[in-house]
Amino acid sequence: MKKVLVTGGLGFIGSHTVVELQERGFDVVIIDDLSNSSIDVLAGITAITGKAPAFEKLDLKEKSKVEAFFGKHQDIVGVIHFAASKAVGESVEKPLLYYENNINTLVYVLKSLLHLPTQNFIFSSSCTVYGQADQMPITESAPIKAAESPYGNTKQIGEEIIKDTCKVNSTLNAIALRYFNPIGAHSSIKIGELPIGVPQNLVPFITQTAAGLRKELSVFGDDYPTPDGTCIRDYIHVVDLAKAHVVALERLIGKNNTSNYEIFNLGTGKGSSVLEVIQSFEKASGQKLNFKIAPRREGDVIQAYADTTKANAELGWKAESNLDEALLSAWKWEKHLRNI
Ligand SMILES: NC(=O)c1ccc[n+]([C@@H]2O[C@H](COP(=O)([O-])OP(=O)(O)OC[C@H]3O[C@@H](n4cnc5c(N)ncnc54)[C@H](O)[C@@H]3O)[C@@H](O)[C@H]2O)c1
Repeated sequence: MKKVLVTGGLGFIGSHTVVELQERGFDVVIIDDLSNSSIDVLAGITAITGKAPAFEKLDLKEKSKVEAFFGKHQDIVGVIHFAASKAVGESVEKPLLYYENNINTLVYVLKSLLHLPTQNFIFSSSCTVYGQADQMPITESAPIKAAESPYGNTKQIGEEIIKDTCKVNSTLNAIALRYFNPIGAHSSIKIGELPIGVPQNLVPFITQTAAGLRKELSVFGDDYPTPDGTCIRDYIHVVDLAKAHVVALERLIGKNNTSNYEIFNLGTGKGSSVLEVIQSFEKASGQKLNFKIAPRREGDVIQAYADTTKANAELGWKAESNLDEALLSAWKWEKHLRNI
């Protein structure tokens, strides 16, 4: 069986990817320090796939432990590196925490990976690297804009680190996947998103408001230059996103990549405004949502949605779920969490 390391594999996107990997016959070992996830996720993955993935509770900032781990697992055929801190606002408050966690862990994993016989690496990047792109939809060749936050900067620096390392190590094969806005939960409702504290993303805020945890949703700005005045994003079902990781990994294992460092956008290609998301949620869930229009929020770009041509053509992957389906799964997950 092909052994794959998934760092951050108990997190939101990581856990859904572990499920898809196991269902494709991969032998998964997860590293997670549980800094933003729960050990219960392991049971969820096991319940869905019928197989418990191997798990090591390990902080990837501990370099010697990372080296010891790779020393024990020389037979790994691919690494999918999700582990990172991801709260944009917190990164502004605590930049060094973000640079330490997101950059050091990447460097330590890459350094250890270079000692393995097989060196395939997938990196979680983000559409945040494009900032407010000049043209929609956004292609992979759109210019990288100055980062709005230390978090965004860690994704830009992370990509540079991988690119530079690939340049001088022909044995290393890497793919950076630039995610748009992942939402939703597995159809089994055994795993989903577990935001800690007040969610910063729209969809968990919507579901928590509908569940009565929050009084009302604030729509930040309705005077943007978009058809209804609210910001536009590309919301992708997390299971579609997870499947793209399996395809990308198989591309590297099968040596079907065209260069040893590739970049792909992962989105649906469709932009939806905040008001459209609210309408879609109300339709899919049958719940009326309490919301108000609030002033614009600093750092929000007007619109961002993906040109998925490259991922569709070269990976042979396409997002399958629509917004209604993704929102319904997010709502079912929220109801499950709250026993509604
Ligand atoms: N969710 C999004 O909207 C989004 C969008 C673009 C990119 N990304 C990126 O995708 C990746 C996964 O995101 P997610 O939403 O699943 O986040 P998440 O917080 O749910 O998952 C990250 C996991 O990594 C673990 N982790 C963090 N630091 C660690 C360390 N030092 N050692 C070991 N484990 C550590 C956390 O405990 C968590 O389980 C991240 O790199 C994130 O920046 C996420």
